[in-house]
Formats: sequence, structure tokens, C-alpha cells
Amino acid sequence: MDFKTAVANEILSALNAAFGSADIAAADIAAALEIPPDTALGDYAFPCFKLSKALRKSPMMIADALADAIHADFLGKVESVKGYLNFFIDRAIYAEKVLTLARGQGDAYGADGSGAGKTVVLDYSSINIAKRFHIGHLSTTMIGNSLYRLHKFFGWNAVSVNHLGDWGTQFGKMIAAYRRWGDHDTVAAGGVDEMVKLYVRFNKEAEENPALNDEGRAWFKRIEDGDPEALEIFNWFKSVTLKDAERVYDMLGVKFDSYAGESFYNDKMQPVIDVLKEKGLLVEDKGAQIVDLSDWGMPPALILRSDGATLYITRDLAAAKYRKDTYNFDKSLYVVAYQQDLHFRQLFKVLELMGYDWYRQCEHVAFGMVSFEGEALSTREGHVVYLDDLLTQAVEKARAIIEEKSPELTNKDEVARQVGIGAVVFFDLYNNRIKDIDFSWDRALNFDGETGPYVQYTHARACSVLRKAAGTEAAAPDFSALSDPFSQDVVRLIEQFPDILKSAVNRSEPSMVTRFSVDLAQAFNKFYYENKVMVDAPGTRAARLMLTDAVRQTLKQALYLIGVEAPERM
Ligand code: ARG
Repeated sequence: MDFKTAVANEILSALNAAFGSADIAAADIAAALEIPPDTALGDYAFPCFKLSKALRKSPMMIADALADAIHADFLGKVESVKGYLNFFIDRAIYAEKVLTLARGQGDAYGADGSGAGKTVVLDYSSINIAKRFHIGHLSTTMIGNSLYRLHKFFGWNAVSVNHLGDWGTQFGKMIAAYRRWGDHDTVAAGGVDEMVKLYVRFNKEAEENPALNDEGRAWFKRIEDGDPEALEIFNWFKSVTLKDAERVYDMLGVKFDSYAGESFYNDKMQPVIDVLKEKGLLVEDKGAQIVDLSDWGMPPALILRSDGATLYITRDLAAAKYRKDTYNFDKSLYVVAYQQDLHFRQLFKVLELMGYDWYRQCEHVAFGMVSFEGEALSTREGHVVYLDDLLTQAVEKARAIIEEKSPELTNKDEVARQVGIGAVVFFDLYNNRIKDIDFSWDRALNFDGETGPYVQYTHARACSVLRKAAGTEAAAPDFSALSDPFSQDVVRLIEQFPDILKSAVNRSEPSMVTRFSVDLAQAFNKFYYENKVMVDAPGTRAARLMLTDAVRQTLKQALYLIGVEAPERM
């Protein structure tokens, strides 16, 4: 039973009974229903001033008349207060309906199939070849992963794309350096770090010996021309980088459907450039080809350099078109830091000018910067935090805490992994994505704060309550035992879960789910403190166990949807 719709239907029939006809649809009434901030004002409130013009009556009069006309079993009370109609749902019926629905649907609770038949392409993580995975790429990876899971949850066909940064003159330099000073075994053993060393040495020596740069350019040209030797080395660099990254993705539980990166579009840009020409959008500027965007208050989009080389945006134009042609998406998301805001505004504008009305389906999902323990990160100044180091440390720290708190736990390594990594991911997804975040160990790993470990711990507590109850006599739940405010707060949150998930998808905002999980964990812990679950009265016990089980299931699902695991014992 959907209480919102039920309340809206009651209002509609009361309107018809009291005023003849009201000329408003049930759906509009449902949309106007508010959830009062304080439950003393009811579960739903309907602001009657919305109708006073059409009915030519004061909100107070309308509210009074409707309150008199509405009588339904599921409503404990209907009050008219200052032009508002406040609805109090019968506590026991409310708990019964919500918990029965949630438990009945299990993991599918809230999945309304609204994405069926639709496709979303998600571009996230999108790391750069021959660079180590640092925490600057954590947010894109985890926001993207969560949006991927959320869309799938609602039945979307979701395609995750790692748009690799695998194109640019630096790769020519890297090959030149490798050919001069590198050897296979060192790079194979040292991975990305060795490649970076070669690159740094190359740039240093090139300061003395500028001819090196020509060598680098020549190698890059060979990559572009598809020269087998150049490609072999370059593809090997790529696979070494990806092998390193794969370890991090495994730790985070992240997967991609496609690794088509910038170089994948080498042979797919000409058609895009042709369209730009046909539409008269390309203008020459000092030998370069640009699209003038001054009418929209933006600097020009640089499409071809004077030497004919393509650019980041040229590749993104080709990628956007390729994704539309290949996946026929209904929505295409780019989870990329807000620093690239201009790039994406230019990209979408050029797509629009090219006549692709699907540019409207493209969206830049921007997010803020990460600093670490109060210090900004900068590759140049050597202040970098690598993701695999961070995750490994998180697991070690979690391990120490678990050792202290639960020495008797048997699978400490496994739980330390789930808690340590969960803490990092949860912290990253806790705030509105556009906010900058400062990563802090104390705040991420605090078992009593608004953290991953806290929510995981609450989930494990629910599991433990249910384990202890297994084997006791089962009875029909007495839902009136859930009429107290603590139980009701839990029930209300469970009822809201589907709407929270929907908003999270619509706004591309995983933090709504993260926050929700904290609210539910807090409400459950209060309930647990105030109410004994294993009481003698079998009906009361059964009702409280059912609530506990619904909390367990909802917390687990919320954590899953933000990419965090939920251990059953901690
Ligand atoms: N590789 C880029 C970076 O690390 C992000 C690419 C984002 N995706 C895109 N289609 N432009 O900054």
C-alpha cells in the first residue's frame, strides 16, 4: 500500500463529496502532499491554500470541510490546523504495511522498473595511462560506481566506460625514454612507477638536449600512424597501467563494460570534423580550426591544432557520437571533476550546434576536490596520495580497531578489508558531490560517527539480533507493539527508502543514499536502546524482529548501492 496515494485518493473523494468537483487530479494532490518536519503534525500534510482560488474558499474552511468528510481505516486521525490538513496514519497499520511490503519484496524493495528499456552510459574513473591511481580519481570512480548500481537497480541497461587517457605526445616521449634507458624486466616488475621514472628522466635530459623532444614526437607520430613497433610498446605500457589499476578496482569492487579511451577514437574523428565543416562551424584561427562559442560566453572550442593534431574535445565529440550510435543511450553521464566544467559546457554546446538534439541527454556529473588531512594534493610538489596505499592503510587501521573491539572474531582479515575500504568509500560519498572534501582518518574510521564503520556495525548488530532469535518460537507479529515513536521513526525511514533512491538517481547524487543509511542506523540504534527485542510476548517479539530484519535488509541494500560491503559479524 502506498500511503501517499491512498491519502491523495481520500482527499480527492472528500473534495468531490464536499464541493461537488474540484478539478484537480489525484497525482497533483499527491505531489502537493508534504511530510511535516515534526511527526506531532502528522505523517502527511496537505496545504489547502492550493485549492482556495479554484474553490473560492479560505484554506481554513476547506481544511475543516475535508477533515469532516474523511474517514478511512488506515487513518488514525485527520486534523485541520491553520489551513493545513494533517494526516495521522494508524501506527499499527502503518508499520504492518511498510514492513510487509519491504520484507516481501526483499532486495527488490523500491525497484519500480522505471528504467526498463532505457540505456544509460556512464563515463567514470577514466584514468590516465602511465600515471598512478591517486586519490584524485577516487570520487569519479566511486560516484560512477554508485550511479551504475543505482541505475541497474531501477532496471536501466547501464554501460560503464573507462575513457582512458591514452593519447598524447607524452607517450611518444615515454617510448623514446624506454628505448634509450629502459628495459623490459624493470618496467614489468616496477609497473607504472618505472614508467614515470623514465618520463621524468626524459624531461630532465631534454632540457639539456632538446633534440630528444624531436625523438619523442617522432615516436608519437609512429603511434598515430599505427607503426607496429611503436604500438607494441605503447600497448604494453597500457596493459601494465591497467594491471596496476585493476588491483585497485578489485579492492573497490568496481568493474567496467568498456575501456574505450581517447586513442580508440583515432580513426573516428574525421566524420565529426566533416559535419563541423558542412555546418560551417569550423573557423580558422592562426592556422588552427576552432568553433566560435563567443555567443554563449565561452572561449572557442579548439578542434584541430595548426599541425593538424586533434584535441581532447575532438576526441570527446567523436566519443559522444560513437556512444549514441553504439548504445543509443537515453542518458549519458560524465562523472568528472568540476574543473572540467567549461570543457563539458563547450562539448555539449558543440553537439547542439552540430544538430544532435540528444545533447540534452548528456550531463556532466561534477564533483569537488579531495584534500588529505588538511593538505591540498599536488603531483608537482610531490604531495600525492596513491589509492592503493590509502586502501591498504585503511585495511590495516581497521584491522587494529577490530583486534581491539572484537578479539574473538574468526574472519578478521576479511572484515578488516570490508571495513577499511568501506570507510574510505563511505567518507568519499558522504557529502554532496559538488563539495570539496578533506579526507581524515579519524573521521573516516570513527565507529561512533556518521561513518561507514558505524553503519556496517549497526547492520552487523541487526544480524546478530536475528541470529540469536533464530530457533525461538515464531508467532504472528503484533504490529501495535510498533506504535512507539522509536519504532515509528524506523518504519518511516524504511518507507522513504524507495523515494530516496529515486531522487539519488534523478539528481545523480549517491550522497543521498549515504546520508539515509546513517539516519536509518541512528534510528535503529535508538529503537534498540529503548525497546527490548527478545521479550516474552511472542507477538511483540515477532513484530520487533520483523522490524530488525527490514532494517538489516535496507542497510545492506543502501550500502551495496554506494559500493560498500556489509559484513554480518564485526
Ligand atoms: N582522463 C581524464 C582525467 O583524468 C578524465 C576523462 C573524463 N572523460 C571524458 N570523456 N572526458 O582528467
